[in-house]
Amino acid sequence: MAENEHSIFITGAGSGMGRLAARTFAGQGYQVAAVDVNEKGLLETAENHQNIRTFNADVTSYEAVAEAVEETESKLGPIKKVYNAAAIMPLGKVVDQDIEIFHKVMDINYNGVVNVSKAVMPKLLERNEGELINFASMAGWVPILYMAAYNASKFAVVAFTEVLYHEHRDSNVKVVCVCPPPVRTPLLDQARDTVWPKVFDQGEHIEAQDVLDAIDQALVDDELFAFPGKGSRMGVRMRRWFPNVIWNAVHKAEGF
Ligand SMILES: NC(=O)c1ccc[n+]([C@@H]2O[C@H](COP(=O)([O-])OP(=O)(O)OC[C@H]3O[C@@H](n4cnc5c(N)ncnc54)[C@H](O)[C@@H]3O)[C@@H](O)[C@H]2O)c1
Repeated sequence: MAENEHSIFITGAGSGMGRLAARTFAGQGYQVAAVDVNEKGLLETAENHQNIRTFNADVTSYEAVAEAVEETESKLGPIKKVYNAAAIMPLGKVVDQDIEIFHKVMDINYNGVVNVSKAVMPKLLERNEGELINFASMAGWVPILYMAAYNASKFAVVAFTEVLYHEHRDSNVKVVCVCPPPVRTPLLDQARDTVWPKVFDQGEHIEAQDVLDAIDQALVDDELFAFPGKGSRMGVRMRRWFPNVIWNAVHKAEGF
């Protein structure tokens, strides 16, 4: 099948990495289903790209996701790749964040990934081809102050994706969990608008393209986890073997 007979399904496509992925695949001739709740962002993503079709759908609704998946397959062609990139990142101390925020972060960042994975995996498995990319984060491995809600949602994505990978490791369907450090996208503005962890100023910040490149490399290498950036793999090892070294640095940076 030629590229333009396959489709790519991307959530969070109205901004940041989802937008870059949508435009990249559209440029390669694929039909792209760009899913987001940000209608304006979606229109900007699709501007000048005739083969990007926008879906104003909320990933927290399994019905909305399943409908978008069905429409993509019937109108744009069988889905070849899925990028689960929708997320939010409001930060704050546990006692300061409203309970609704905890529920919303889990619903979008984790349940959204589950909804899309559940809607699309049976189709990929039936054809025995395709790639599912779930966006976790370094925050899925390294907990820090102010990030309880986001950390928990990303730890959940890591665990979910690891199990899914192993359940189908003998198939031709590839499952990747990408775990970037901070990336220069509008998502970081949500931290600026709430609480900006001081350790964010100490680590590396990478570009959206670095993340897409790391995903491609993980697919080539048949790796479950993609760790974009120079320090992220080491960060995960530090967390595993010397968690207090990280915690001491975090406390020192924040001053409490
Ligand atoms: N930017 C970073 O520093 C960073 C680091 C590590 C991991 N990540 C992860 O990478 C992924 C992409 O992040 P980004 O930086 O491109 O973020 P972004 O904020 O630029 O884009 C996220 C998009 O998700 C959309 N979205 C939010 N709620 C939604 C919902 N309910 N349904 C559908 N769409 C919804 C937003 O409208 C937005 O367009 C996310 O999973 C994020 O957690 C980001």
